Amino acid sequence: MIFVHSTCNIYSFYVLYFFFLCISFLRKRLIFGIGLALLLQIPLLFVSRDTTTTNDDSSVEDNTTKDDESSLFNDHYRFPRWGNEGIGFDDWMIFVQGLKNGTASTVVSPKTRSRFPEVLYVVDAHGVWVSSMLTQRSFFRTNQHRQKLTEQLFTVAWQLLIAQTNSTRWIHLQQASSLQGFPFLAWYGDYKSCQYHNWKNTSSIPLLTTCAPVSCPYAFPIPNYQNVWSVLSNTEQQTSYQTQYPWPSKQRQLIWRGSLSAPNEHYNSTRWRVVVHAQNDPRVDVGFVSIGHMNARLHIPWPEIGGGLKPTITPMSDFQQYFAILDMDGNAWSSRFGELLCYNSIVVKVEPVYVESIQRDLIPWKHYIPMASNLSDWDSVLEFLFDSRNDAKIQRMIRSANRWCRQQLTMPALAARLLDVWENYLGHMEEGSPRWQTQWSEYKASIFHSDFDMVKLN
Ligand SMILES: *[C@@H]1O[C@H](CO)[C@@H](O)[C@H](O)[C@H]1NC(C)=O
Ligand SMILES: *[C@@H]1O[C@H](CO)[C@@H](O)[C@H](O)[C@H]1NC(C)=O
Ligand SMILES: *[C@@H]1O[C@H](CO)[C@@H](O)[C@H](O)[C@H]1NC(C)=O
Ligand SMILES: *[C@@H]1O[C@H](CO)[C@@H](O)[C@H](O)[C@H]1NC(C)=O
Ligand SMILES: *[C@@H]1O[C@H](CO)[C@@H](O)[C@H](O)[C@H]1NC(C)=O
Ligand SMILES: *[C@@H]1O[C@H](CO)[C@@H](O)[C@H](O)[C@H]1NC(C)=O
Repeated sequence: MIFVHSTCNIYSFYVLYFFFLCISFLRKRLIFGIGLALLLQIPLLFVSRDTTTTNDDSSVEDNTTKDDESSLFNDHYRFPRWGNEGIGFDDWMIFVQGLKNGTASTVVSPKTRSRFPEVLYVVDAHGVWVSSMLTQRSFFRTNQHRQKLTEQLFTVAWQLLIAQTNSTRWIHLQQASSLQGFPFLAWYGDYKSCQYHNWKNTSSIPLLTTCAPVSCPYAFPIPNYQNVWSVLSNTEQQTSYQTQYPWPSKQRQLIWRGSLSAPNEHYNSTRWRVVVHAQNDPRVDVGFVSIGHMNARLHIPWPEIGGGLKPTITPMSDFQQYFAILDMDGNAWSSRFGELLCYNSIVVKVEPVYVESIQRDLIPWKHYIPMASNLSDWDSVLEFLFDSRNDAKIQRMIRSANRWCRQQLTMPALAARLLDVWENYLGHMEEGSPRWQTQWSEYKASIFHSDFDMVKLN
């Protein structure tokens, strides 16, 4: 990529220079920017730019800096998304009525339907409410774990919202919560196409989800249970990774372990292709530790993938014994991506099909090294990685990733990110249903005095 390879020609150099000046100007650091840009190599400066940025991205005052920067790279990964027609609240209310007696669902498969029901929430001035009737509809324990962690975040987000008396960032939210609040549906499954907003092909039902397919035009991925898990489980450990896994002691190989979890009947799932491709490449150590239940009946040509399963590496933080860690989609989003960016090793990420809400901040060649999903750049990426002249650049990327982790994988930052999604959702509601507040104030009582059995979180 042009920012780190020394092969960039003189024209891209000027483009970068001009771009850098603009950024400096926008950030009111023109003089400083020009000085540094002249003194140092511009590509290096770009990669390390945020070493001069001390303000915390989780600050609720200003989310614009991050946007300016990441939108240049990450439009592809930019969520939430919804059509110009906005959200039809009439349809939403009809859907929710059907949800009550089990006649409406966004999910086709009966099995998935019973594992992952759409769960109804209401946010208002008193707190966040959940339908305990819908929660209990899932017999699947995994779902309850996901739901519980996410609901912790809902509570923190509500507290953050209530503490804001005067924000310009969450105008719709503040207005709604001062009136009758607002309802939404969350869905905790992950293996999903984009069609979940479709209901009877006549209306679009917005669901707040863990992730979304990159190409999906209708989706509201929210900070998910894995992000919350990272926050809760990891905060103290992160600071010790550098001493626990010092750079010089690392094994110089690219590591990956995981399950063959996505359907693989055509032998073309990402994980399968990568593991096959990597065989006999001594620079990499990748392999399956298990075959997912979806592939239980698949004929596995074992010789193609190294002859057998590989030993797992636990805890996952022990991946840091290797200097580079591969990351790729499973049967949905790679739920470990955020966590890996807290590690003291470089992350190589195979271009994802499923993305989560954090992806919008993460910039290839700044926080991680990207790899095309067709693996066309396998050799060039590995050559970069294994050329020790690039160590300083690689370590700089690791520092950027770790800084992102410290700032963004915190409860306040995730809560602010969630409020952004809620705000956006209400914006689309306004667009599609300008009278939704009035409709909702009439409809709300019928939800609270019903079998939905709404209970307050905490
Ligand atoms: C379920 O609820 C919907 C909406 O209120 C209603 O139209 C439908 O008749 C109900 N179906 C059953 C089987 O009760
Ligand atoms: C909100 O902010 C505006 C301008 O910053 C200020 O004039 C106003 O007094 C504030 N209102 C409250 C309720 O804090
Ligand atoms: C940033 O904040 C603005 C409101 O100030 C909001 O409209 C926008 O969606 C936010 N963007 C992101 C990416 O959070
Ligand atoms: C929705 O549309 C698709 C494609 O047009 C069709 O295959 C499907 O049967 C429709 N579903 C319903 C419930 O009408
Ligand atoms: C794998 O191949 C099948 C059949 O050609 C295709 O339908 C499917 O989309 C492919 N999957 C991936 C992940 O490329
Ligand atoms: C592989 O993917 C890259 C990036 O997505 C693309 O530029 C390239 O044309 C693809 N190569 C082939 C052979 O499909």
